[in-house]
Amino acid sequence: MRKLNIAMIGYGFMGRAHSNAWRQVRAFFDVPYEPVLKVICGRNEAAVKKVAEDFSWQEYSTDWQDVVTRDDIDVVDICSPGYTHAPIAIASAEAKKILFCEKPLANTLQEAEQMLDAATRNHCLHMICHNYRRAPAVSLARELLNNGDLGTIYHYRATYLQDWLRNPEFPTRWRLDKSKAGSGALGDLFSHSTDLGRYLVGEITNVTALLKTFVSERPVINSQERAHVDVDDAALSLVQFKNGAIGSIEATRYATGRKNFNRFEINGSRGSLAFNLERMNELEFFSDEGPNSGFRTIQVTDKTHPFLSGWWPPGHIIGYEHTFTHTVFELLQAISEDRLPTPNFEDGVQNQRVLDAVERSSTTGTWQSV
Ligand SMILES: NC(=O)c1ccc[n+]([C@@H]2O[C@H](COP(=O)([O-])OP(=O)(O)OC[C@H]3O[C@@H](n4cnc5c(N)ncnc54)[C@H](O)[C@@H]3O)[C@@H](O)[C@H]2O)c1
Repeated sequence: MRKLNIAMIGYGFMGRAHSNAWRQVRAFFDVPYEPVLKVICGRNEAAVKKVAEDFSWQEYSTDWQDVVTRDDIDVVDICSPGYTHAPIAIASAEAKKILFCEKPLANTLQEAEQMLDAATRNHCLHMICHNYRRAPAVSLARELLNNGDLGTIYHYRATYLQDWLRNPEFPTRWRLDKSKAGSGALGDLFSHSTDLGRYLVGEITNVTALLKTFVSERPVINSQERAHVDVDDAALSLVQFKNGAIGSIEATRYATGRKNFNRFEINGSRGSLAFNLERMNELEFFSDEGPNSGFRTIQVTDKTHPFLSGWWPPGHIIGYEHTFTHTVFELLQAISEDRLPTPNFEDGVQNQRVLDAVERSSTTGTWQSV
């Protein structure tokens, strides 16, 4: 089996999630390549060495420029903050690597377009990690929608709620600094709900939106100083879809009690669907079959359900990390078939157009086209 050498930039939350996915995929799915965890890269040598050991990476490095130009690297997996995505992806594209990048694709629409352009010019395969598409219940929702089981789609109602910033004394970090993160709840959470809306319902054409920062100064760790917060804490939008459906998307880090409440409901003329990541093995489905029809909960763990043939017997549930394994499975299949995986940088750019329209709407107080 051909080996595929991976270089990963970033070893934090996503670095660990992706390391785990690359390690797991071959053990559970019939993949055309053997992913080799070749080199993991970060700025802090002691910390990157520790993660390299934990996940059995062959090497570690503190110099991403050196890593992405190495001849023995096939895939560059970008798991670092948003402000690093464009320089790393563009340098990797010039070095003709396969590109796998965390979301949102970049900090601005212009950067995202430059990344897509570099990837296209250099004939690189590219993928963005909107992993929730590959929760089996979400993939099943897409199958039901594609079958026409919901009829004409009227509504997409999405909320992505967390609460880790509700304490005003919670210290600042890169996610609260616009120069590093690009935006707050908008790029972090709203972008996921936007991707699911695009995946399940279709293109978003117009938005009206509100961005709000509740706490504008926060403590700096190990310092008496306080830092200005220049990103949104919450993003709230009405959206219109090309196919005539309408929707709402709400993302916040201040929904006290909600931890990772990534939920959507879709209503059509013949049926409805609802999903919540906190109960990710379940899909709620209503199909109008007369007065006794009601919402039923499908436990999405059957061998016939998307991705489940690779895992455990029915009822033996799977979790968050599996969505990443399924995502790299798609990437490996696409590489072997010499096609673009989905979602890719084109989806990332389109997503960024929605985020850009949300920002414009929040500034002008008017509807904006995407
Ligand atoms: N798909 C998802 O569900 C999901 C979830 C969380 C984060 N993300 C995305 O993943 C990316 C990383 O987020 P995270 O939560 O893992 O962050 P994190 O803070 O946990 O880790 C960031 C990593 O990037 C490294 N890094 C920072 N600046 C760097 C630089 N200049 N050069 C090299 N390495 C650098 C850090 O050392 C660290 O290892 C972001 O784009 C974020 O939006 C996606």
